[in-house]
Amino acid sequence: MKDPVQPISAGEHTNRRSFLRKGVVATGAATVGAGLLSRGVPLFGQEDEKSGKLTRGDAAILRFLAAAEILETDLWQQYNELGGIQDSEVPGGSGSPLYIAALKVLDGDMDQYIHDNTEDELTHEVFINAYLASKGADTVNLDEFRTLPSSKATGAQQIGRLTNIMQLTVDTTWWTRYRSRTQNPDFGDTLPQAVPSLAVGQHPAIPRSDADLTPSDHIQAIANTAGFHFATIEQGGTSLYPSLAQRVTNVEVLRVVLSIGPTEAMHFQTWQDKAGNAPALTDPKDPTLVFPNLNAAPFGGEDFQTNLIMPEPTVFLSRQFPTCSIVRPTHTKGAAIEAAKFLTASGLFMGQSKEFFAFLSDLAEDADNAHREL
Ligand SMILES: [Fe+2]
Ligand SMILES: [Fe+2]
Repeated sequence: MKDPVQPISAGEHTNRRSFLRKGVVATGAATVGAGLLSRGVPLFGQEDEKSGKLTRGDAAILRFLAAAEILETDLWQQYNELGGIQDSEVPGGSGSPLYIAALKVLDGDMDQYIHDNTEDELTHEVFINAYLASKGADTVNLDEFRTLPSSKATGAQQIGRLTNIMQLTVDTTWWTRYRSRTQNPDFGDTLPQAVPSLAVGQHPAIPRSDADLTPSDHIQAIANTAGFHFATIEQGGTSLYPSLAQRVTNVEVLRVVLSIGPTEAMHFQTWQDKAGNAPALTDPKDPTLVFPNLNAAPFGGEDFQTNLIMPEPTVFLSRQFPTCSIVRPTHTKGAAIEAAKFLTASGLFMGQSKEFFAFLSDLAEDADNAHREL
């Protein structure tokens, strides 16, 4: 898929909004209030979304974050149905014992951690939308885009999904980025992949059907893919919140963003540790997919050593300053569009409609147009 998330012009912006609204009108008779942006009442005929008591910028930042959290919840829900713990906090699905066993090679508590990460995303999504609504601002609802297929493996619910975690191209540069003492993408640096073969091609991170449960090295390769993808997603949130926080105006909105963002870092830290336990192997059903021993040559050393799970200090703001242990990247310009493009390039939305990409792009552009108003 060729870069469907593109910055759009002001003219296109209005057209996309009205197109999406027309889509809501056309399909919305039975689902009043379930529009793409909803305040509990339909938005038909209105030119712009409502910010209520928030500045337009703060509302736009929160709406992009709400969308990101809805998408995160959707992917984590799929992991939890097959690989986590299904209970009243995170209902749905009934587990896949062989997938869970493969995940537990990375850590005996993987099912609990998957459950907890899923619940966290769900609460982020629900809270941000509730906060927007409390200020009289429009909220985000992506239900019309729940059209992608579920895994056919035993244990998964058969419902429409927003995200596709069965054809992923997983960027693993966070591994080397957080281990480098000299490089930072905010300075234009590009870091090497930890698992180069995951960063090309398309790989399932959950069993697509029960046929994926054997042989054991194949389901282990799928569990390993999930193990790296967990951290790839959560490092994204770890950067996104501080990047957008820099353009928030209201102190309470800043508190919301600064209080949710670090939980993404807690997730990332956990998953980075677990990914380091993924056993070295070659997928017998896809020999191009190789999980290397990251502690041995040509890997190994400070850039790859698996127990270096805390951030190495690196350059920050200026190479003139002493190195500092920090989240990276945290530049704010264009951060929302970059996040949308990053997720799109991973294949997470493979199969989604043009309208979905237009709406995501629109939300991201609005967030990136936000600026502090003092
Ligand atoms: Fe989240
Ligand atoms: Fe997250």
